[in-house]
Amino acid sequence: MNNKYEKERRLLHGGDYSPEQWLSYPDILADDLIMMKDTHSNTVSLGMFSWSALEPTEGEFNFDWLDKIINDIYKIGGNIILATPSGARPAWMSQKYPEVLRTNNKREKMLHGGRHNHCYSSPVYREKTSIINKKLAERYGEHPGILMWHISNEYGGECHCNYCQESFRKWLKNKYITLENLNNSWWNSFWSHSFTDWLQVESPSSLGEENVHGLNLDWKRFVTDQTIDFYKHEIKDIRKITPTIPITTNFMGDVNKPAPHGSTDYHKFAKHVDIISWDCYPNWHNDYESTADLASKVAFLDDHFRSMKKKSFLIMESTPSSVNWQDFNKAKRPGMHLLSSIQHIAHGSDSNLYFQWRKSRGSSEKFHGAVIDHDNSTENRVYQDVKFVGEIMERIKSVKGSNKNSKVAIIYDWNNHWAFEDSQGFASSTKKYTETLHEHYRYFWNHDISVDIIPPSDDLDNYDLVIAPMLYLISEDDIENLCNFVKNGGILVGTYITGIVNEFDLIYLNGFPEKLQKLFGINRIENDILYPTERNELSFENNNYKILDYADTIQVNKAEVLSYYKNDVSSNKPAVVTNKIGKGRTYYIGARTEYTFLEDFYNFILVQLELSNPLIKVGDTEVSVQSRSSLHKNYHFVMNFSENNKTIEITNGIFDMVSGKKSDFILNLKPYEVRILYSYNKDFK
Ligand code: GLA
Ligand code: ZN
Repeated sequence: MNNKYEKERRLLHGGDYSPEQWLSYPDILADDLIMMKDTHSNTVSLGMFSWSALEPTEGEFNFDWLDKIINDIYKIGGNIILATPSGARPAWMSQKYPEVLRTNNKREKMLHGGRHNHCYSSPVYREKTSIINKKLAERYGEHPGILMWHISNEYGGECHCNYCQESFRKWLKNKYITLENLNNSWWNSFWSHSFTDWLQVESPSSLGEENVHGLNLDWKRFVTDQTIDFYKHEIKDIRKITPTIPITTNFMGDVNKPAPHGSTDYHKFAKHVDIISWDCYPNWHNDYESTADLASKVAFLDDHFRSMKKKSFLIMESTPSSVNWQDFNKAKRPGMHLLSSIQHIAHGSDSNLYFQWRKSRGSSEKFHGAVIDHDNSTENRVYQDVKFVGEIMERIKSVKGSNKNSKVAIIYDWNNHWAFEDSQGFASSTKKYTETLHEHYRYFWNHDISVDIIPPSDDLDNYDLVIAPMLYLISEDDIENLCNFVKNGGILVGTYITGIVNEFDLIYLNGFPEKLQKLFGINRIENDILYPTERNELSFENNNYKILDYADTIQVNKAEVLSYYKNDVSSNKPAVVTNKIGKGRTYYIGARTEYTFLEDFYNFILVQLELSNPLIKVGDTEVSVQSRSSLHKNYHFVMNFSENNKTIEITNGIFDMVSGKKSDFILNLKPYEVRILYSYNKDFK
């Protein structure tokens, strides 16, 4: 695509701009432009919540104010990311067409209010979004300031109205063709649940059915598909009228888990957007984890979003100071704004965009951090921090579009996540699927090795090492994909609670699937659950490590045993094994362990692989180093995620991007300090 975004040489800095809140304050709108220039802000996202300002009464449109803002921004050299306003609709619409409002799982119609409170199936809502989207595309499609489309805002949630029930049944008919297939797949003979008429099928409800796992899983898949369908509806005319303007929609991530938004399968959604963007709100300086712990979670999410298209992405929202919705909304300490902004770029972001440009005067987000505070001052710390970030982003702009090259992948699957969380069994409070993925990821973050986070169906050819923890649900096709990867020379790590159900959430009969038995050289006989107070241990290379939560009993067929359980019924039985197969090798970790085991385990297996970061001679687990590369250059981001001075040693022949001078090879870093370096590809492999 040869478009303005691709031609844009700057990294994007700026954020959500809501002039509709300030239309009767012309002085403030004038100040905004001056302050945007002053803070090196070059991009605004406009229009997410402008519907009632654009269409104050049905069919009567007012674009004058938006014309002026778009022209003004363009005149100061700014880009516009133009949103469609479907994230919140005007009151007149809910009043006249109540069908646009959502129905909850108890079949209660919601009242007008909040946002994201609309039915994705409603014909009226679809028609109304079509009309306004088309008008926006026709009016602004040719405007030279428009950089990108921002469709809706943080799509999410579900609706259980009659339209949605109808769409769900249609989706199911398309999938199962006959009711008999559906009954079999959902195991409806249990509790006399078999359906004899499609109209008997309903979405899950706390007033009705919540325990049919196949239904729950299909409902979640349907909700993703229906959301994507609504998005495709939104972009239909936009694509036609403005074929060269790229399209994004802002995805969400939950840094605490850490995981992208739980109810939408973004691996599916990602195929329909041109550029991935996401909204990131970590709770820096909290009192329950170290800065490095939190940083590694943000890194995990950045890597996940980058991996969705395996190219650079955008941070569409973040806060320059605090949010307003945490228990404690702490402001960033000096240095943290630059560090946290550069971290996203280090993992592949080409932007730092904020929510929001100017703090609202009233309503629910009036205390949410913003670039401009209520004092309208250019002197306060947040404003100055933002300005500094803008300056640095200008100096490092050549990073834009460069990519990361990962030889390690961790597998995450929404279907598996949904099914495992929904399963009744195991231990409800220690399932910890995403936390477990993050524990494995943590080793690579600590050692500055780049990781992709991918679905199990992804092409695995480019990876040396694939880590697939806790694949409770795995389809036969995905098993085949893993087998081929290993046969062709890959190294695969699998763990306890793998290969239990297929994609219909039906248990694999006859135990551990045969192909997995061959792959890992074992049979899994049993899975034991540990209370949080219970302890077992495994031994590995002359050390003992604590086992937590889950422990498989393994029968070895062909594998070589690397570790044995120490106590309990499994005492002296194999806990960790390895199997040579084809040109590759597998490892099976039978139990959840304390982190130190993973540290020593990956040190052990990485001896065979050259995965270390070539920049670093002596690193530090709290100093993260991430690299991106373009055709001629490698960019290295050295980030001190601690409250202490740190020293690390790097290879020679590296330049500092900010000073333009050759870098020292001993880097003395102050707390939260960042260095951005580069090297030429020809000198540095
Ligand atoms: C989300 C929304 C924004 C704003 C922020 C506040 O990301 O998209 O409109 O509400 O949260 O943190
Ligand atoms: Zn609905």
